[in-house]
Order: sequence, then C-alpha cells, then structure tokens
Amino acid sequence: MKTDLLDKFGKWGADFLGVKYPIMCGAMTWVSTPELVAAVCNAGGFACMAGGNTPIEILEKQIKETKRLTDKPFALNLITIAPLYKDHLKLAVELEVPFIIFAGSFPRKSEVKVAKEAGAKVMCFASTHSIAMRMLDFGAEALILEGMEAGGHVGHVTLTILIQQVLFEVDEVPIFTAGGLGTGKICAHMLLMGASGVQLGTKFAVAEESCAHPMFKEAFIKANARDAVSTPQFDSRLPVVAVRALRNQSTVQFGELQMKLINMLERSEINREEAQYKVEEFWVGRLRDAVIDGDVSHGSLMSGQSVGLVNEVKPVSAIMEELVTDIEAELQRVAGKFV
Ligand SMILES: Cc1cc2nc3c(=O)[nH]c(=O)nc-3n(C[C@H](O)[C@H](O)[C@H](O)COP(=O)(O)O)c2cc1C
Repeated sequence: MKTDLLDKFGKWGADFLGVKYPIMCGAMTWVSTPELVAAVCNAGGFACMAGGNTPIEILEKQIKETKRLTDKPFALNLITIAPLYKDHLKLAVELEVPFIIFAGSFPRKSEVKVAKEAGAKVMCFASTHSIAMRMLDFGAEALILEGMEAGGHVGHVTLTILIQQVLFEVDEVPIFTAGGLGTGKICAHMLLMGASGVQLGTKFAVAEESCAHPMFKEAFIKANARDAVSTPQFDSRLPVVAVRALRNQSTVQFGELQMKLINMLERSEINREEAQYKVEEFWVGRLRDAVIDGDVSHGSLMSGQSVGLVNEVKPVSAIMEELVTDIEAELQRVAGKFV
C-alpha cells in the first residue's frame, strides 16, 4: 500500500513509537490481552497492555507472552491510583518494557525518572491543559491527549478544546490524540492539525482478536454514539470518577444509589466516608462482568462515543488496513485542493 502522505505527516510519531503507522490501540483493562496487543503491533500499529489492577504474576506472564507473540515495541499502561501500581512499575522496569504510559492520575516526577533511567520511553495521559503542562515538566517524552468523548475513565474536556489548548501550542514532544476517533478520515485530520499520531480504544475492543465476550461486542455493534454516557455526579458531597460506558441497568441503579445516599446524608443516617465507600464499591468488578462474562445489563460496558462508528467485528489486520487506506486517501484529497 502506498502511504506517501501518511509517512510524511506521521513520521515523528511513527519514529518515536518505532512502528510503521502511528496508530495506537489504547490500553483496555480486561480487553488488552497479549493476543490483541501483538495483533496490532504485527499489523504495523502500536498497542498498550493494561496494567489495571492485574495481579503481579499474571501481568508478568502477559508481558512475557506479548514479547513471544511480537518482536515489535509495545507499551505497558500503568494506573497510578491502582493499589498495585508501585509493583507494576517495578515489574515494567525489571522486564525492560520498551514504553511506559502513566495514566489514572499523575505519576511522581521521580517515577518518570525511574522509568526513563530503565530505558523505557515515557508517555503520559493528559485530559486537561494543566495536566499536560505538569507532565511535560515531569519529563514526559510524549503526551496522549484524551478528550472526554473516550471510553473508560474520562476527564471533562472535549478533544476539540484540548487540541486548541495543547496540540496547537506544544511543539517539543510528539502528541497523540484520543477520544472519539473512529475513522481514518478523522485520524488524517488529527495529523493535519499537528498530532503525531492517534489512539483508539473502542474500535479495537470489538476486533476479532479482542477477548471480549460476544455479547459485549454485540452491544457495541448495536449502540449509537449517544448511548455511551459519562457517569453523572448528583452532589458534590459524593464525588464520582467519570467513566464513559454504554447506558444499561447499572447506570440506572447507580443513579438510584446516589439519590438514596444523598437522602441518607441529609438525614444524617450515614456519614460521608461510608457513603463515598458505597459509591466506589458499586463499580468494583463490573468491567470484568461485562467483558469476560458478557453481563451487558449490570456490567460496565466501557465505551467511547466512537461506538456509533463501530459496525462490525473484524480482524485487527482489516481494521488497520482500513484506517491506513482511509487516512492516506483523506490526506491525498485535502492535498488535491491545494494543487
Ligand atoms: C473497555 C475499555 C477499557 C479501557 N481501559 C483503560 C485502561 O485500563 N487504562 C487507560 O489508560 N485507558 C483505558 N481505556 C481508554 C483507552 O485506552 C483509549 O484511550 C480510549 O478508548 C480512546 O477513546 P475511544 O474509545 O473513543 O477510541 C479504556 C477504554 C475502553 C473502551
């Protein structure tokens, strides 16, 4: 496939990642198995394993298995607020994982240093302008700028705003954009706007190689963009970490739980800590229920709004080929306007 313009516009990102195409499959807890990660890497893209809260022996096996399935670079995504985070970082350093991505909240500056000294390239998520600036100050070598359109844990700022606040203003490191990207055409325009590459999650979650339960994939295929909603917070006394997922029974029950707890707080029948614990406890294990057991009613169907652009289950090679072809065609179309 001839990809002259993609090669030009994507050069910095592709060189940074050490891949053919600067197209990243984002880390997805429970979904990003070695098979999915390796399939994306072997198709010329770049994929991220999810540290999530995976027990250390299992994560070690997964990293080794990924290295067996591909000789291409890949990343380990670490959730800085996960209970096992420090052990995950230690493991990544020991096993010389080529790329470490810090997500969740902020890493410490010293942790970025540890990762870099171990030879890993360090990328950090940024969902706001201030986080982006802080991560650059901490020594991030690239940013993943993720808008609230994305699936999973999300911030509150759209990618459109982040592009204007960060992508247009920062030139010193490669920036990969994420959130709501479902077609090659939009990926082409991200490159035209100055992104070094793109990260997609939802589209790869339904790939043939994704381990997600057939019911999980079917729910994605059927869903419209508006079905992927961010969890609401009803009262500032009960902070809720926003997660974008397909609306289902658990969304309704979570709303009811919040209302009940707020009423109990008003009547002093519960204290804030107990109420907060119940809010956080509600979602524990629910992503696994959806991805592995196919519980589409009560599980957490984490999904981006790009789910509205996902129409069929396809092998990773076909997804990659379609993205690459469409990116190149769109870049050529735009270039044609200037002739
Ligand atoms: C099912 C699912 C699980 C995810 N889990 C994680 C995770 O463990 N860590 C992380 O940094 N991002 C996670 N994400 C976010 C993705 O890595 C990616 O940034 C996001 O999906 C991009 O937006 P999109 O879904 O619109 O393509 C998850 C997304 C989905 C859909």
